[in-house]
Amino acid sequence: MCGIIGCILDNKKAAPILLDCVSRLEYRGYDSVGIATSGSEIKIKKDKGKIEDVHKNLKLTDLPGARGIAHVRWATHGLPTKENAHPHTDCKNKIAVVHNGIIENYKELKSKLEDEGHIFKSDTDTEVIPHLIEKYMDEGNDLESATRLAIGNLKGSYAIAAISDDEPNKVIGARKESPLIVGKGENEYFIASDAPAILHHTNKVIYLEDHEMVILNEDGILIKDSEGHEIQKEVFTIDWTPDMAEKGGFDHFMLKEIHEQPEAVKNTLLESSEIEKIVKDFPKFNRICFVACGTSYHASLTGKYLFEKLVGIPTDVTLASEFEYSADTLDENTLVILITQSGETADTLKALRLVNHKAKTLAIVNVLGSTITREAEYVVYTRAGPEIGVAATKTYLAQLTAIYLLAIHMGGKKELLEKLNKIPSYMKSSLQKEEHIKEIAQKYRDAQDFFFIGRGFSYPTAMEGALKLKEITYIHAEGYASGELKHGPLALIDDGVPVVAVVPPGRSHDKTLSNVEEVKARGAHVIGLGSSLDDDLKAEVHDLIEFDDEIDEMFSSIPYVIPLQLLSYYISVMKGIDPDKPKNLAKCVTVE
Ligand code: F6R
Repeated sequence: MCGIIGCILDNKKAAPILLDCVSRLEYRGYDSVGIATSGSEIKIKKDKGKIEDVHKNLKLTDLPGARGIAHVRWATHGLPTKENAHPHTDCKNKIAVVHNGIIENYKELKSKLEDEGHIFKSDTDTEVIPHLIEKYMDEGNDLESATRLAIGNLKGSYAIAAISDDEPNKVIGARKESPLIVGKGENEYFIASDAPAILHHTNKVIYLEDHEMVILNEDGILIKDSEGHEIQKEVFTIDWTPDMAEKGGFDHFMLKEIHEQPEAVKNTLLESSEIEKIVKDFPKFNRICFVACGTSYHASLTGKYLFEKLVGIPTDVTLASEFEYSADTLDENTLVILITQSGETADTLKALRLVNHKAKTLAIVNVLGSTITREAEYVVYTRAGPEIGVAATKTYLAQLTAIYLLAIHMGGKKELLEKLNKIPSYMKSSLQKEEHIKEIAQKYRDAQDFFFIGRGFSYPTAMEGALKLKEITYIHAEGYASGELKHGPLALIDDGVPVVAVVPPGRSHDKTLSNVEEVKARGAHVIGLGSSLDDDLKAEVHDLIEFDDEIDEMFSSIPYVIPLQLLSYYISVMKGIDPDKPKNLAKCVTVE
């Protein structure tokens, strides 16, 4: 995944604004950066490395001109090198293109273009695009038509922005299966991979659909369909403020977002009546199927336990990337619930497209106007605000909140709303454990392996704890249903191996406690999460993270995961890793 920006400004230098916007997309890719501006001729500065370092060396803001494009890269084709950094150009360096996505047929296109005499400078799939535009412009087409003809050759996914020396007043954008929005400011116009990138300049946005193209020039914005016919599109006003996308005094976005969680849950609870309305419209279902990836998959797993308990309909959970292999038996009596904070994850989108209108589909999404919200039959928005840290935190808890609300309304169990409304206050006390968690982090920061265990509602919490640790500390971690340990993995528990046991009061408590004894007997160091009144747990564990005894297992999923997020965060920082930009993970995975 990469991030792209394009802009046309009114008598202002574009480079500083492009740099500002592209820095806000750094969570989408951080191995190289580049900017191209157009004036009398295209000027480009680009290199591998983080934006801050590249800017220090190259002075990216020195580029002249009031129009331009910019890119942050997360390498897919070709190593992170200066040559492979975007923007890419044609043979004459008169056309520059930035791209997010993957061109699947680039090898075939490249070899054809090389046979026609085009000279390539990089190993990327993207570089075929400026050469294709060049070929069609050489045949007499203008930039817009040449771009339309060029993308007609592409197989795969793309969001692109292109500029040309021959038409210096234009920036062209186009998309297929990768996100692209258009920003409409006061005499200044933008294209961007997402809205937070341009929020400082405008909150008026238009969402492009697949195969649509946008032409920015000084007079405004023209949007055209794949045939080149002009179309009118709704302009949305985003209610996110620019400071929501700032660190606000915290060292990292992740820590800020962890602290914003009570607010994210409170705001999502306000969706209760909206969810109640949606549910009233539902036909009778005999099956529910959650589909999601990563952290959103863990929210779905919690959904399975909740729906079976509160709604009483058989519920299963499928990883979006596995969905196509198991979707054959779904029909109009099935509700498919797709969970995705970004609303753009390729696997989840593919699953939606497979079942839409065959089964009923409902998407739980954080990003307004994202592709999945436009295609699903029903949409529930989580109100977490923009999440910039790559590891999902507040969007996870907002997803869980939406799932609780859905289950409560579908199951006709409104009496549980009172309990749910107490969760933000439990969360605040979870956050007060930060200093204690820091001490635990210090104690276990050098561990090679970690295990997270729990049963029932606590199993997804254990899975999420393990995923957070893996992705931002690079420590090997496994999330297990505690009962599974004795079926093999117990062999891995040796002296000093940390085992995080999630043991809230409730049905699963005693059995998990027995599993704690099993791992302890094999030398594990147990970090227990449980009630402050749980003396049995206290007697077994080396470290205890205590919670209010009122929080039973069914409502533990939200407050209990917060210390696990903090544990990963502090170990990450202690290891000198930037938790906002962990390696090999992107905020929004737009490739299958
Ligand atoms: C984990 C993480 C990823 C995402 C996954 C799904 O911290 O960020 O595992 O949860 O890529 O993303 P969405 O929810 O946007 O579909």
